Amino acid sequence: MVVQISPSILSADFARLADEAARVGDVADWLHVDVMDNHFVPNLTLGLPVVESLLKATQLPVDCHLMIEDPDRWAVGYAEAGAGSVTIHAEAAKAPVRTLRAIREAGARAGFALNPATPVEPYEDLLGEIDMLLVMTVEPGFGGQRFLDIVLPKVRRARELIERHGGEIWLQVDGGVSAATIERCADAGADVFVAGNAVYGAEDAAQAVRDLRDRAESAFKKRTAAS
Ligand code: DX5
Ligand code: ZN
Repeated sequence: MVVQISPSILSADFARLADEAARVGDVADWLHVDVMDNHFVPNLTLGLPVVESLLKATQLPVDCHLMIEDPDRWAVGYAEAGAGSVTIHAEAAKAPVRTLRAIREAGARAGFALNPATPVEPYEDLLGEIDMLLVMTVEPGFGGQRFLDIVLPKVRRARELIERHGGEIWLQVDGGVSAATIERCADAGADVFVAGNAVYGAEDAAQAVRDLRDRAESAFKKRTAAS
């Protein structure tokens, strides 16, 4: 798989989550679930009980993005519940190595997220513990925000570090990803794309996913052919 699309249910109708997941069930690679605690970010969404229900209601693997304080305490529960991927934030984790290892041991992919102002270089030595690096392209907390172009150089540097490190580490972008911005992300080296508004704001969510994938795929292939 060259690129992967992970629609964010933050922009979906929370009263009909199973139906909303089904709208992209045949075309998406993941279902992105934003867990927010009103402390790490100024917004409150959902937690483990809802994720457990969602896991039963969809065939898609669930990509849990934890925007919470104390992920060291809570992350493993999402992995144990059956999430395919669990991402913790660099700014919130106090023992990231222990927590990333616990996520993997519980059978999920271990994700590590960086806010727009958090540099990637200090985490180079952690790459061996990480299955997916998430570079936020908005300040986390809300859907529908404007894409931050200033983060693109960091996406590029993250791709370089990943290539130098070797192994299979996915590079995810999240925030403001749309038909207008996804090619820039893929060109900078991202290969997993979260999209909330661009998918659930569209009348035909499945078609929006296909369109995003086409754009990302051609930009990604162009980049890899050139390098
Ligand atoms: C924001 C969340 C995102 C959000 C993206 O903090 O992490 O996953 O749903 O939404 P859009 O794609 O609308 O920016
Ligand atoms: Zn997210």
